[in-house]
Amino acid sequence: MSAGERINVAIRIRPLSHTESDANEESVFSKVMPEGLDAKCALVVESNKDAGVLFDSVYTEESTNEDIFNDVGKKAVERLLEGYNGTIFMYGQTGSGKTHTMTGVPEDNGLTGRVIEHIYTMIGDTSTREFLVRGAYIELYNEKLHDLLNKRKKLQLNYLGDQFHASKRTETCAKDADELDGVRRLGEKSKKMGVSNLNEHSSRSHSIFSITVESTQKESPESGAGEGEGEGEGEGDSGGGEKNEDLSSSFVRVSTLNLVDLAGSETFVNTFGESQQRETVSINKSLSSLKDVIVALSKKDQKFIPYRNSMLTKLLKSSLGGNACTTIICCITPAAKHRKVTNYTLEFGKMANTITNIPKQNLTGSDDKTVLIKQYQKEIQQMSAKLLRLEQLEKETDLAQQEIARLRGMAAVVVDGPSVKYEHEVRINSLEDELAEEKVKREKAMGAAVSRDKHLAETLRQNEQDMNEALTIIRMEYENEREVLLEEVANERAAMMMSGGRADLMEVVQQRNEIERLQNELHIAHDRMTMMETMLAEAQSVISALGAH
Ligand SMILES: Nc1ncnc2c1ncn2[C@@H]1O[C@H](COP(=O)(O)OP(=O)(O)OP(=O)(O)O)[C@@H](O)[C@H]1O
Ligand SMILES: [Mg+2]
Repeated sequence: MSAGERINVAIRIRPLSHTESDANEESVFSKVMPEGLDAKCALVVESNKDAGVLFDSVYTEESTNEDIFNDVGKKAVERLLEGYNGTIFMYGQTGSGKTHTMTGVPEDNGLTGRVIEHIYTMIGDTSTREFLVRGAYIELYNEKLHDLLNKRKKLQLNYLGDQFHASKRTETCAKDADELDGVRRLGEKSKKMGVSNLNEHSSRSHSIFSITVESTQKESPESGAGEGEGEGEGEGDSGGGEKNEDLSSSFVRVSTLNLVDLAGSETFVNTFGESQQRETVSINKSLSSLKDVIVALSKKDQKFIPYRNSMLTKLLKSSLGGNACTTIICCITPAAKHRKVTNYTLEFGKMANTITNIPKQNLTGSDDKTVLIKQYQKEIQQMSAKLLRLEQLEKETDLAQQEIARLRGMAAVVVDGPSVKYEHEVRINSLEDELAEEKVKREKAMGAAVSRDKHLAETLRQNEQDMNEALTIIRMEYENEREVLLEEVANERAAMMMSGGRADLMEVVQQRNEIERLQNELHIAHDRMTMMETMLAEAQSVISALGAH
């Protein structure tokens, strides 16, 4: 959209307050529908005048915040998501209903809460784009800027790119309406409130709740590039050449909607305390600067616009004669008593209604350092990759644990290894017993028949030889068994080294200890066999002696 667009001005007439009704105040301002004009347009007519003042819309005592949201809020959200900056600001004297409209009451939620809800509803309905939403809340009190999201910290106003910005204000990202509403409520708590002569809960400062939305085209899985425009609500009204430009997925839409609740003008009374006097002077001064800007902008060919005369006009620069879509809601009381101030408000609204803004869709390159959505997308990608790696590591850990369990089983087998050895030992022991028995028999035989014949000696020698052979076989089996075990353990150790598990090394050390223990036992068995061999040799020498006989 590059065509000029008039600032939209709505009037809200509030019901008479209890104080006004109790004082039998007369209602002197009313809404009148003009004939043959746009159904939305309406006149505010003062009872003693013939002609009324025409506005884009007029809300009466019966109107609700929902009515205002349906006309003003929804449109502002649509524009916001399309990438246009927007401002809705409440204007009017103290007690006229500005905060009632912007913040609302429990039985009728205000514009801000409804806007927040609608932003996320629209985001949910727009499947082709990714969004990042954040909120900031600042306040202008006695010409000083404060961060309502950071303990009322003082902020500086910087001039950047033809606009004034509250530098280093807190911006809080919110994933859903509840979170963003929480940000708003946090700020509300810190707002400067007080008592004015017409309002028990009077805003003593100008406050601006800003919602910034960044969005990018979602990557299409088929093409890897952005999808075309036109899907979902709010996608079809971007207009002209900028729409083509926006087809590129590399562009990011960044736009801000400012919801401004101004402090109301108030008649200065000398009985005010010092602090209230200062507040009132400051409020009236900034509203007067605002009026000067509106007057200057409403004049044709006016070159100089006094934006720099107050903090408020600096802050609203882009909304007044700038590139934002702006709506001003002028709140008035119908009470006759405030006729003069109400006419002043209507005059302000009428002038503002003639000002033309040139709304511009805000598109920026993804390399723009101020754009957060691309940075966040990159971070999310990096975190997803880390998550994937973590999942792989978890799987590997599972496998390693299974392997350790298997090795434990192996270790148990190795520990049980002596059962194999035990079988051999049993056999060796029984052979030893046999040998001992044989020795006893032989000694008996030798004692009983030293002079017997060579045949007996031969038989004895044969027996000895058989036993010797049996022992050799067992020994070989034992050696084989040991080698097999050593090989298995060496293989397992190599496998464990490959998997790099530290816990596995412990298993290997245990197995090695076990092997050493087995080797010791083998040595003992070996010694016993040597002893038996010595006994055999002795027996043989006896037999030889017998044979020689
Ligand atoms: N349309 C309305 N319907 C019912 N009550 C309303 C309406 N507008 C305002 N009121 C009531 O009038 C009182 C003053 O309204 P509000 O606080 O919104 O005024 P204000 O314009 O914000 O004043 P200030 O400039 O002092 O902050 C509140 O009690 C509010 O609930
Ligand atoms: Mg207020």
